[in-house]
Amino acid sequence: MTATAKQPAPDTSAPAHTQGLGDESSIWFKLTPLLKGGLDNPLHIIMQMAERYGPVIPINLANQRIVLLSEPEHFKHVLVTKADAYIKYFDGLKPIFGKSMITNDGALWQKIRMPQQPAFHPDMFAEYIPYFLAAIRTKMDMWSDVAKSGETIEMVEQTWTLAADMICKALFDRDMPFNPHFVFKCVKTYTDVMNHKEIRLKRQAGEIFEITEEDAAKAMEVWASVPPAVFGAEPREERERTLLKMIEAAVNDPNMPEFDQQQAIDELKQYLWAGTETTALTLAWALYETARHPEAAERIRKEGEQVYGDREPTAADYSALAYTRAVIQETMRIYPPIWGLIRVANEHDVIGDKEIRPGDRVVLFAYGAHHNPRFWEAPEEFRPERWMAGAAKKQVKYSYLPFGGGKRSCIGGAMSQVENTLALSLLLRRFRPEYVGTDPAGINATVTLTPKGGLKFKIRELS
Ligand code: HEM
Repeated sequence: MTATAKQPAPDTSAPAHTQGLGDESSIWFKLTPLLKGGLDNPLHIIMQMAERYGPVIPINLANQRIVLLSEPEHFKHVLVTKADAYIKYFDGLKPIFGKSMITNDGALWQKIRMPQQPAFHPDMFAEYIPYFLAAIRTKMDMWSDVAKSGETIEMVEQTWTLAADMICKALFDRDMPFNPHFVFKCVKTYTDVMNHKEIRLKRQAGEIFEITEEDAAKAMEVWASVPPAVFGAEPREERERTLLKMIEAAVNDPNMPEFDQQQAIDELKQYLWAGTETTALTLAWALYETARHPEAAERIRKEGEQVYGDREPTAADYSALAYTRAVIQETMRIYPPIWGLIRVANEHDVIGDKEIRPGDRVVLFAYGAHHNPRFWEAPEEFRPERWMAGAAKKQVKYSYLPFGGGKRSCIGGAMSQVENTLALSLLLRRFRPEYVGTDPAGINATVTLTPKGGLKFKIRELS
């Protein structure tokens, strides 16, 4: 531990469930085996650490130091007040994101983000909705077949392919020019390897299998082939105002030499990961929660019936789908797809009473704030009502950050809520997805918060 880190007082008052974590100096060694497997929710261990050791926990590893933060005021400090002192961290994920804007900092980040920003202005959403609906209809046709065959489906894979289709159609003016199920598996192979570097043996569906470095390399070849396929595919409608057009214009802009062809390719990779993985996980977890709370699914059906009935929903209808949207917000509270935001300190600082040194990896533990009873009544309960007008207690600022915060917050957050609210409403009006996996579903905390072993469903079509 650091010179400034306080040793915990002899532990006579800690709650029973935090006993047995050991001295602060040995946290990591006790934590690592726990995080590796066996537990249904490894993030509860980090919550217990915060409860026992306080909101700023420095952890010394062999060649780096991690500082774990779990207080909203400290999130604000890192994301807003001293944002420039904390830069992005993407070491293991470069093959997924390349040099896309999400990985950059400072003036370069700003320069790359600026030409793309207009594609995410809320005024654009009405234009995108018909394309979201086209992708949702395709998924519904597939589900109709699934319902007839009675087969079991893996929901995250289902929602990933839907999210990728929505982005391709709405933002790129393309039908998906790749096999989304195949690409999904490739990306998962890679992120699994990088996040469990030392864990090669994984248990899934009762089988033990090994992921090798060669598998990861092959998976990345597939991933690299996706952006050229999108650029090369026939436009659906030759629309003028698309994100793809904005990216192409930036490449052709002589005032923007940084935005070269490789930048364009990497921007697409970024959207096809950051915009699909997170959106897909949210929708899959929302379907899981509504399957376990049939009264919520029923209320969503009724709301859709009242708001848009038998016609196609519009942007105004989206605004009126207050309960369905609340289900999405509550899902992101319980299962924030990005459970922890990571930054690297580039100067000396002090957070709480702890020293931060240049090079420290600072982890903002969003999941912990989302589940903290100081900020949320009954935080483990699924209560969409807490998001409804009038019901919401005044929220503590920065206690809810599914989309991050400050200038680096998610560019597509508001758009993803439109996608997921419409998808959830339409899917539940036509189908009754039945969760048939282990109950409750376990959690894997890798780059994203994923269900352990997936979310298995059977689909029933409502008459
Ligand atoms: C439920 C859906 C989503 C969630 C939970 C989510 C979450 C996040 C979070 C937490 C960040 C900030 C990461 C950090 O500060 O380190 C982020 C950034 C970003 N997200 Fe999202 N996101 C979602 C949907 C989308 C969509 C639909 C798109 C685009 C199609 C998108 C594109 C991006 C990009 C490009 C950034 C980087 C912005 C920048 O650095 O300027 N995301 N997202």
